Amino acid sequence: MAIIVCPKCAKKHNVNVDQFKEKRPSLKMIAARCKSCNHRFPVKIDQLINQENKKNKAPAKKKSEARKICVTLSKGGVGKTTTSVNLSSGLALAGYKVLLVDTDTQGQSSYILGKKPRAGLTELLTKELTPEECIVRARKNLWLLSGGKSLAGVKRIIDRKSFGAEWTLSEALKDVDDRYDFVIIDTAPGWDQLIVNVLFYATEVLVPVALEVMPLQGLSEFMKSLGSIQKYRKEIALKYIVPTFLDTRVKGPEAIYSQLTKLYSEYMCTPIRYSESLSEAPSYGKSIFEFAPGSTGSADYRELVRKVTSDMDALF
Ligand SMILES: Nc1ncnc2c1ncn2[C@@H]1O[C@H](COP(=O)(O)OP(=O)(O)OP(=O)(O)O)[C@@H](O)[C@H]1O
Ligand SMILES: [Mg+2]
Repeated sequence: MAIIVCPKCAKKHNVNVDQFKEKRPSLKMIAARCKSCNHRFPVKIDQLINQENKKNKAPAKKKSEARKICVTLSKGGVGKTTTSVNLSSGLALAGYKVLLVDTDTQGQSSYILGKKPRAGLTELLTKELTPEECIVRARKNLWLLSGGKSLAGVKRIIDRKSFGAEWTLSEALKDVDDRYDFVIIDTAPGWDQLIVNVLFYATEVLVPVALEVMPLQGLSEFMKSLGSIQKYRKEIALKYIVPTFLDTRVKGPEAIYSQLTKLYSEYMCTPIRYSESLSEAPSYGKSIFEFAPGSTGSADYRELVRKVTSDMDALF
């Protein structure tokens, strides 16, 4: 059914479009007569068909929510930033829309991606600028909300809030994140109000664990802190443990890896091997996929993209 409106008296009339489509497909125009005022006027058949098609179209499916994955561990230098940047880059290359949020005052994510944004997370959290002004496009499918020194001031603002401080980041991102398939959040080492904010925003936790010295202690301490957040926020859960700095030439890391696997088998991902290319890529402002696509680092982060997306063909 379509509706014809009389141009003279504005009376609406229902018309069965099928009678024209099926019985007289070659007909382009009809002369309609208003039953109310008797006015005669021309009507294009195409317009009636378009109107009906629009009406019959299924309502647009709501885009599913972005997956919000934070990359975190209180211990420093374990590969959080390297993993955040390369996982985000890999997901973007696999065709997903990704927002990388850097919540670290070191602001390394933008450096690694060769970007110098004038604004970032600070301006979004302080509402000085709009999200469109704060988020920069770093690559095809990859957007960046950069961190940096100015976040120190934001932490003080969050600390001074008398209530709801832990939701500051969630409030700032709530109108933005549904544009993406993934929001990947890099965090600083240590434990502060901004990390608590990240854990109140994200739903999945990815922990990089360096297979070097005493990683198990750092991990179990972090699990305790995560547990204390989970009491108030049920949606956050450990999803992935990514062993990093695997050096296959020596025995130590292999032993730590098998110990980790025994304790946390359900979360374990394929390890990221120690790779010169991974440490060199940042100074060229490139992800591992751009800097050394044939390297072991690239192969390992490709594997992580497959694990996270559950798409074993991603990035082949
Ligand atoms: N698999 C790897 N092989 C070799 N070098 C690596 C690897 N992963 C990371 N690196 C290098 O190790 C250093 C520390 O890594 P990264 O900055 O990612 O750690 P982080 O956990 O983010 O550190 P911080 O806690 O200071 O934020 C960097 O110089 C990085 O280039
Ligand atoms: Mg870092």
